[in-house]
Order: sequence, then C-alpha cells, then structure tokens
Amino acid sequence: MDGPVGREGTVTVATIEGVGAHAGEQVEIRGWLYNKRSSGSIHFLLIRDGTGVIQGVMVKKEVTPELFALADDLTQESSIVVRGTVRADARAPGGYELGITDLRVVQRAAPYPITPKEHGIEFLLDHRHLWLRSRRQHAIMRVRSEVIRAMCDLLDGRGFLRVDAPMLTPSACEGTTTLFKTPYFETTAYLTQSGQLYNEAAAMAFGKVYCFGPTFRAEKSKTRRHLTEFWMLEPEAAYFALDDVVALAEDLVAYVVERVLERRKEELKTLERDVTRLEAVQKPFPRITYDEAVARVRAAGAQMPWGDDFGGDEETVLSKQFDRPVAVTHYPTAVKAFYMQPDPQRPEVVLNCDLLAPEGYGEIVGGGERIHDLALLEQRIAEHSLPREAYEWYLDLRRYGSVPHSGFGIGIERTVTWICGLEHVRETIPFPRLINRLYP
Ligand code: 4AD
Ligand code: MG
Repeated sequence: MDGPVGREGTVTVATIEGVGAHAGEQVEIRGWLYNKRSSGSIHFLLIRDGTGVIQGVMVKKEVTPELFALADDLTQESSIVVRGTVRADARAPGGYELGITDLRVVQRAAPYPITPKEHGIEFLLDHRHLWLRSRRQHAIMRVRSEVIRAMCDLLDGRGFLRVDAPMLTPSACEGTTTLFKTPYFETTAYLTQSGQLYNEAAAMAFGKVYCFGPTFRAEKSKTRRHLTEFWMLEPEAAYFALDDVVALAEDLVAYVVERVLERRKEELKTLERDVTRLEAVQKPFPRITYDEAVARVRAAGAQMPWGDDFGGDEETVLSKQFDRPVAVTHYPTAVKAFYMQPDPQRPEVVLNCDLLAPEGYGEIVGGGERIHDLALLEQRIAEHSLPREAYEWYLDLRRYGSVPHSGFGIGIERTVTWICGLEHVRETIPFPRLINRLYP
C-alpha cells in the first residue's frame, strides 16, 4: 500500500469502495468533502474519493480543539486527507462509516457553484467540469464504462480484432450534409462520421474486426438523441450476411444489458432506473421489415409515405410497441447510404438493419450488408455525386479479393441513455458537444 501523505507513521490507504475489507482497522482516505453537517459536538463529513461516498464522524471530545475547528471551517469540495477507524454500520449508505481521528486539508475550496439545491440544465452544462463530481453523474459514467467494457469483452471473446480507424479523412461515409470540414495543410480534411469504410479494409485483412472511437456529425438538429461528437463501436466481418449481423447486434445488446444489471446495480438504483424493463431484454429480439414498420406507424395514426426515413417521432411510436429492442430491416435504398447492398430480389430496398431500443428510445444500431460488386459500387458513388478520387482505395477492396461482408455501428451514448433511462443523450458523455455547445 501507499505511504501516508505528509503525516507521521504509516497507515493503509483505502478506497471508499474497498473500505469493507478494513473493518475495525485504521485507514487513510484521500478525497474531497462532499457535504457537511454539524451538531455542536459532532461533525458529520460526507467524503467522496471517486469510488464512493462515506460518512466520516468527528467527535469533539475525541480530537484536539484545532482539528475540530479545522473541520468546522471546511467548505464543500475542499480536498482532504482523513484518517480514521472503519466501522460497520447498517444504517450507513455503503454499510460503513469512518470514525475520524485525523484530518489534513489539501486545499480549502472557494464557494462551490453547484450546491445541493436544484440548478437549471444550462447552468449545469456550463459547469460540466464540476458537475461530473455529483453522484448521479458518477452513476452514469460508471454505466458508460461498463457498457464499453462489455462490448469489447464480447467481441474479443469471439475473435474480433480491434483495428481502429482514422479521425481525419478525405471523404464522407454517411452523406455529405453532416460533415465537419477542417483545413489540412494545402487541402481539406473531414472529421470522420464513421470508421466503417476503413473497417471494411481491415475486415478484408483480418476477417473479423471492430473499431471504437469518437465520430462526428454536423447535426443541425437540436434533439434529445443527437450529439455532434459521439462514440461508436463498429464491428465488421468478411463473409457475414444480414442475418449474421442481426444476430451479432442482438447478442451484443443483450450481453451489455446483462452485464450492467449484474455489475452496476447500485448505479441503476441511484438513477432510479426501473430494472424490470432491462430484465425484459432477452433474446430473441423481434424482427420486422421497414414495410411492416410503416404499417405500424400508420396504424398508430401517423401519416407516413412509403419511402421516407423514420424521424424521431416515428421511432418513438415504433419502439414503444416492444418490450425489448426491435430489429428493422429492408429500408428504402433511396434514404440509405451509398454503400448499402440492395436486396437482389427487390432492389428498391437494402439489406440493412437498424436496432431500435424500447420505451421510445429509438435507434441505437445501424448497419447491414455492404456492396461487394465493383461495378455496382462505382455506379452508386456516381449516383450520390461523391468525388470518385477520394474513394479509389475503397474501390480497390472490390478489385482484390472482394467478398460479401457486413457490419454495424452501435452508438455508445444512445445505448447508455436507454440503459440508464435518461431523458437526453447529453449526460452520457463526459463533455457533450451539441449544436450550441462547445464549452467547457
Ligand atoms: O446509423 P449510423 O449513421 O450508421 C453508421 O454510421 C454506419 N456507418 C455504421 C456501420 O455500419 N459501421 O450510426 C450508427 C449509430 C446510430 O444507430 C446511433 O446509435 C449513433 O450511431 N448515432 C448517434 N449518436 C449520437 N448522436 C448522433 N448525432 C448520432 N448519429 C448516429
Ligand atoms: Mg442510422
């Protein structure tokens, strides 16, 4: 264990999460003052260290007058190192409290802007760098971390190799209307919208791959589902057909939910998530075509011509009809990206699959089969008026050992929003980038 910080003698440095292993012992905890209550003779210090929150109890007659006065003077979020005895206490939140015997103030915090009272969302977003310290944000970030880890574990376990894609690219993947441009020496670069095209090259090199990283969309829409910078995990596999990716997406999402239920129970409780809704997320997921989805939207009273893409409202209607994610396949070719494989039986639709999360959350996964025929891909690039030179390398993949292949992308923030049961995607990423927000 680490040595002490600026005090005589050694003592075990413990985390609040792991304090239970030291019941009855003296430990040191390094953290911050979360909140404080005092009666005349006792200070109750709520201490957080990033792993949890514990109540420290300092009794006037058990410490020096100087120490008691020092604690009295502490402000919210002051950084402190405390020592004390770990005591089991059934009434305490984590099951333990700390009988404080020593306290050192590392920095006495200035008046902290985020107080236990209610604050407006814009104020909180302006203070995101501090807001991340609150209990609810801790719960969300821990779920996010678990979601990412579970996804990687499942894919690693199935022999997918992580091969990451570049962020700076010469061309569009998901249409030219949401591209962020940036000067790049003598030319122009675009921030990546998806690692998919590079993933396809990696799949032809390694068979089964995935990439994971930030992706960017200059989304002009101000909705609860859209960020301009979001993280996407994208598996891609040679010789996979539509059924294979639908099955993989289903396995991945079911596994992620299972892992969060298993390892992040406390966090879901903090978020007041109705876990029965998550427990219902069992395979197999229902599977419908775009045609059936349109019929369902119309039956629910909405006007929707065949051929339109689903908007947020239609997705909400659809995804409220199921108690688990629903796979929607065979969208109109005209509304989808240039690389999507048309159905050979019915070329006006593509062999794609979106997964819509239940409870109105909507799309979390998009993917499907890619065009593997050179001539057809050349034709689609021309029809979409894409600059052919920038795609020559991508066309090479169809010249040298082309095979049918498929993949998908799953949005981390949308998945976490749904699993945590949140209203808006903005709380699921440490520093959200929105149409009107680049600070902090
Ligand atoms: O459906 P999308 O646009 O698909 C692709 O980018 C494919 N190239 C992926 C692939 O096949 N490898 O995006 C995939 C997912 C969406 O289902 C959604 O979860 C998320 O990325 N996403 C967003 N999340 C937050 N904010 C946005 N603006 C998003 N746009 C897409
Ligand atoms: Mg999509």
